[in-house]
Amino acid sequence: MSRIPIRLRVAAAFAVAMAVVLAGTGWYLYSSLGTHLAHALDRELRLRADDLETVVRDPDASLASATTGRFVEKGESYAQLVSTSGTVIEFTRPLGRVPVLTHAELTRALHHVILGNRSEVAGLDEPSRFLAAPFMKGHIRLVLVVGATRENRAETLASLRDELLIAGPIALLVATGAGYLLAGLSLRPVDSMRRRAASISAERPGERLPVPQTRDEVERLGVTLNAMLGRLEEALARERDFVADAGHELRTPLALLRTELELALRHADSKEELHQAVWRSSQEVDRLAQLAEDLLLLARSHGGSLPLRVESLEAADILTRVASRFEWRAQAASRPLTTSQPDGLRLQGDPLRLEQALGNLLDNALRYGEGAVCVSARPASAMVELHVTDEGAGFPPEFLGRAFERFSRHDHARTRGGAGLGLAIVRAIAEAHGGSAHAGRSDAGADVWLSVPGAA
Ligand SMILES: Nc1ncnc2c1ncn2[C@@H]1O[C@H](COP(=O)(O)OP(=O)(O)OP(=O)(O)O)[C@@H](O)[C@H]1O
Ligand SMILES: [Mg+2]
Repeated sequence: MSRIPIRLRVAAAFAVAMAVVLAGTGWYLYSSLGTHLAHALDRELRLRADDLETVVRDPDASLASATTGRFVEKGESYAQLVSTSGTVIEFTRPLGRVPVLTHAELTRALHHVILGNRSEVAGLDEPSRFLAAPFMKGHIRLVLVVGATRENRAETLASLRDELLIAGPIALLVATGAGYLLAGLSLRPVDSMRRRAASISAERPGERLPVPQTRDEVERLGVTLNAMLGRLEEALARERDFVADAGHELRTPLALLRTELELALRHADSKEELHQAVWRSSQEVDRLAQLAEDLLLLARSHGGSLPLRVESLEAADILTRVASRFEWRAQAASRPLTTSQPDGLRLQGDPLRLEQALGNLLDNALRYGEGAVCVSARPASAMVELHVTDEGAGFPPEFLGRAFERFSRHDHARTRGGAGLGLAIVRAIAEAHGGSAHAGRSDAGADVWLSVPGAA
């Protein structure tokens, strides 16, 4: 069924529904006309019986004379006057003296009017309907029987049936055709969207599906799909930028490494000079390795799916471990480095990743900030906030919005050599923990923090 085109399925469903409606209407028309005709015939028989009664009561008139008059039409109707014993006293032309009524019917007709059907009556070869009514002629009780063939009713019904049998299928065909055309018309925009979609490619950005201005489901589908194309395009552009930036960042240390090695090869005369060159080269290799690791982490963290080894941790442990790693650098720069946290504060997290995130923040504080650096932990409802503050100028307001994006650096900082991945990694780690990362200003200067879930 699902392989049949929608257009055909709609038309077929339409045809079936239409056939049911047409058949129902036809049947209703046919049967209500049948009942209507039957009632009309009964009414006619009653009227005729009344008329004939007046005729028969007249001592000078007879039924036979009435047959030539307006009361009984030849060939289609008949009348009979019967005595209480069942003897036919008078009759109209097609009938003989054979009584129309059976004995039981006569007995009933002596008391009240009865109606009945006859499939055959002597002299008439068509089915007929009769009415028998008692009446008094002087002191004599008699029964008047009037009847009429049902041929007219049958003919009318047959012609209606024939007309319905011709008109019904024609109406069905026309309606199905109209349904097929209509379904085609309303599906046309879908088809043109499909054709455009088939030709859209990543090489030509900005292409969109044609959206019909119909204010219906098709228009909404088109608008939604176009919005999706827009989002995909943006994501693709971001990925491209990421790859381009990554390539660019890798090129610089590689170029430096090559220069360093070439210089050493050609001009390093002494062992001392060679040692210096190798040392500088190993620095660049370190940078390359770090960069590669950062890129890998960011690629893996896509969609918050960075694998973590979460455990319940003492906040103080993490802070002291990170601070001790940076102690020598702070001392070398004559920058005080302190930690602060409430006693017994615990959090849920991966210790290595949290140390990495705090390490990035400390590195930034020492590199871009000034004055004292403080690493602190604070409870905040169900979360724990890990702050790194310094006393420098902090983030320029126009840069704050994109500080956590990959490869984003404030222009002044570009010369100082970072790749701009540190804060992006902090955010990826925070989000992988189900938390978030923020940057702002404290009273003293820059304040960057990440929040992670607390633990009891
Ligand atoms: N404590 C701070 N004070 C002032 N500016 C900051 C501070 N921390 C970060 N920044 C600014 O934010 C930018 C982005 O920092 P991020 O750590 O993401 O990149 P990076 O340090 O330049 O490079 P990477 O960390 O990859 O070596 C920095 O270049 C700097 O301009
Ligand atoms: Mg950094």
